[in-house]
Amino acid sequence: MIHAKWRHNRIVQKLVWFNGTVGPLETATIPAADHCHLYGDGLFEGIRIYHHKVFKLDEHLDRLYHGIKYLNFQMSISQPELRAIILDTCTKSDMDAGYIRLNVTRGTGLGLDPSKIDTNPNVMVMINTLALYPPEAYESGLDVVTTSFKTIPADALDPRLKCIGKYAANILAKQEANSRGAGEGLMLNHQGNVAECTGDNIFVIQGGVIRTPDPSSGILKGVTRDAVIALARKAGYTVEECKLTPFDLYAADECFLTGTAAEVIAMVTLDGRPIGDGKPGKVTNQLIELYREETKNGVPF
Ligand SMILES: Cc1ncc(COP(=O)(O)O)c(C=O)c1O
Repeated sequence: MIHAKWRHNRIVQKLVWFNGTVGPLETATIPAADHCHLYGDGLFEGIRIYHHKVFKLDEHLDRLYHGIKYLNFQMSISQPELRAIILDTCTKSDMDAGYIRLNVTRGTGLGLDPSKIDTNPNVMVMINTLALYPPEAYESGLDVVTTSFKTIPADALDPRLKCIGKYAANILAKQEANSRGAGEGLMLNHQGNVAECTGDNIFVIQGGVIRTPDPSSGILKGVTRDAVIALARKAGYTVEECKLTPFDLYAADECFLTGTAAEVIAMVTLDGRPIGDGKPGKVTNQLIELYREETKNGVPF
């Protein structure tokens, strides 16, 4: 924590901590044979800084360490140690608002077989900024199209893993949405049920009830999703996690998306059809406000 009296002399900067060394972004270099660079064999988290605090830090670290366990990485840094590294890098960067990109890869070496590589993970904490959508979209809402790219089924790669390699499908879906003039792309799962958007979870509201795809629908179990479910329940809404089909979206009164990068944003059209009256709805706007208030409750540094 930097004392307020020093604030007028602050140096606020983007920074990267990589395997123990901190410096400006362009100074970090990954080994050419990093297993994630070669095969996508890595995990990541995107975490926001609001009000000079790290929002939902422990929830993101829990998800990361569950992924590390699932992929059987030989993680060299404990969860409390990594937490301290993140907070220390934030202190050095001193940004009031920003986006932390946390990467952990299996290690370094050519060939798929983990037993034949150096399994000392490469770990990065980058303090940067990220705006996913233009500021005006937070007032007017987003146009979304259903993309032809499906989410990866759980028996191929469990969607709860925030695995870097998996994102090629999401990037293709995003590209398709952009080429069709939309701000975001909806991805269905192989059963034709609604899963999520390329970097966001999805919610629908009908008759005052809020619904969102359940974790077995092929979604990343978003930290923002969980936060919004809790806020909505606290505000007195019924929130159901269930199977949803495109019918539920076309017939909804309101829809909105959630994500660390996306925050909470209304979705006002799907495939060119207005959702409700084609404007951000009352419940969505209330949840946007509640979420903004909640972002004050991060971990200070
Ligand atoms: C595919 C996907 N779904 C959902 C989310 C939202 O997750 P969170 O709220 O934890 O950021 C993300 C975030 O990056 C994502 O990539």
